[in-house]
Parts: sequence; C-alpha cells; structure tokens
Amino acid sequence: MKHVINALDFTVEEIDELIAIAEDIMMYPDKYSEVCKGKKLATCFYEPSTRTRLSFESAMLSLGGSVLGFSSGESSSAAKGESVADTIRMISCYADICAMRHPKEGAPFVAASYSSIPVINAGDGGHNHPTQTLTDLLTIKNLKGRFSHLTVGFCGDLKFGRTVHSLIDALVRYNDIKFIMISPKELEIPDYLRKEVLDARGTEYREVNILEDVMPELDLLYMTRVQQERFFNEEDYIRLKDSFILDNKKMSLAKEDMFILHPLPRVNEIAVEVDSDPRAVYFKQAKYGVYIRMALIMKLLEVVPC
Ligand code: CP
Repeated sequence: MKHVINALDFTVEEIDELIAIAEDIMMYPDKYSEVCKGKKLATCFYEPSTRTRLSFESAMLSLGGSVLGFSSGESSSAAKGESVADTIRMISCYADICAMRHPKEGAPFVAASYSSIPVINAGDGGHNHPTQTLTDLLTIKNLKGRFSHLTVGFCGDLKFGRTVHSLIDALVRYNDIKFIMISPKELEIPDYLRKEVLDARGTEYREVNILEDVMPELDLLYMTRVQQERFFNEEDYIRLKDSFILDNKKMSLAKEDMFILHPLPRVNEIAVEVDSDPRAVYFKQAKYGVYIRMALIMKLLEVVPC
C-alpha cells in the first residue's frame, strides 16, 4: 500500500504515468465511469477547502465510487480531543482511501503510519500540498508541453505557500529550469528550501521584490495569496497582503505565451480584469485537479483499467 505525503513521493516516471492517465480520462471519461464502483473515499478536512475537498469528491463520484467525510475539525470528534492516529484507525474501517487536510505540518504523515488504507496529504500547514502539485504539473504539461527549459516566477507569499514549496520540489528534477522568486523580504522562501532543495540541486534562481522588472523573462507566473491564517500578527498581514497585485498593465509586459497559474483561492493579488486574458489559466487549472485526482485514486486503489 502506498500513501502520498510529499510531492517527492512520486518519481518523474510515476508523474508521467499519472499525467498520461489523466489525459486519457479527459479524452475518454466513459471508460472510467464505474472503475471505483463499491469503493469509498473519506475526505477528512480539519481546515477549510473548496477546490481540494470538492475536486476529490467529484473525482471519486466520476469514477463511480462514493464519498464520506467531514469538512472541519469542529464537526468531528477532534473537537472532543480525539487524536489523528485514533481517527484514521476509525476511517480505515469505513473507507478504502482517505484524503486528509490538517493545519499541523506532518499530521497526514502520522495518520499514514496508523492507517490500513492509503492516505493522501491534501495540505498540511505551510508544509506540502502534493495533489495541488500534480494539478499544477498537469496544467503546465497541457499548456507548455514540457517541464524543462522554462523560467518560472513564483510571486507572493513564498514563506507559507505550501503549494509553492511542493511545486519547486517537483520541478527541480527537470532540465534547464530557472526560478525567479518575487516576494517581500518577510515572505521569502524558507531557508531549508534554499539550501536543501535549490542549492543542493544547483538550480538557477534569484530572489527579487519588483514583479514588473521580471515579467518579460517569464514562461509561467505562479501567483499566490498572502496566507492570513498562518500569520501570528494581524498588523503584519495588513501591511503585506497587497504587496503584489497583477493587473492588465503588468500583463502587457509579459510574453504572448506566458501563462498565469494560481492554486486559488484568490484574494486581491490578481485583479479581476486579468481573468479575461487568455493567458490567465487558473480556473482551467482547478478543473485539471479533478482529472489528476481521478488518476491518483485509481492508481492507489490499483484499479486503473488497461
Ligand atoms: N488550491 C487549494 O488548495 O484550494 P482549497 O484551499 O480551496 O482546497
């Protein structure tokens, strides 16, 4: 049995395989409509979510399976003090696979060690969000056709943005990939990412704080919101929340084939006027999330049709 805790749990070959399955689902959805008949997915979300929880549920329903779960810690026995370890022992009796989101970093890893069903990390604190990374990779593959020879800008909250950390982890494994990190000083990438991932791999990157200066260089721009829920201090959040706002004026500096990704939810960091630009692909990206989660569920349950 395999769990998915970190973006690096997948080899490059496994990512290629999941993407190929997702692309086949997009072309032949009927082929997959009963593959998970009789199987149940539990979504155990201790933290708010729209896309991840509902796309997991949509994925399982599209495969002919069923879903159960909770959408906040307060509505489960966690509110009475039950541990994640005990909860997953129970969920293992009720479902065949579990997607878990938790505000504490490492909670899905702890759950996996007590679980008798596959556990998928659906986001743990500021740490990791591997299925968002798979979604991002499927989006990049479909729009750019490759993961190599790209200059990728990451903009906004690069300190707490777990989707940024997971995507960097995944992309450093490809050739000729360059990163430009665009953030205020206080929200720069964590030191471990700089030393243990980027420097360790010899990946080319630079850190800047003016978006306009680097727009013309980018093949992809990954925007993120400033994560209010991770701040200890409201004053700092208010000071930093509107550090970067992408608008049509800034978009005019970008290449014709530069795409804007965003894991969503968006707050103020992308002006609504940008939504109608064909390079704004964040809503399409959210849709890709269903296909890649369908592929992942089938793979973990070992029910991928030939
Ligand atoms: N991208 C993402 O994780 O969105 P949700 O928080 O709505 O699940």
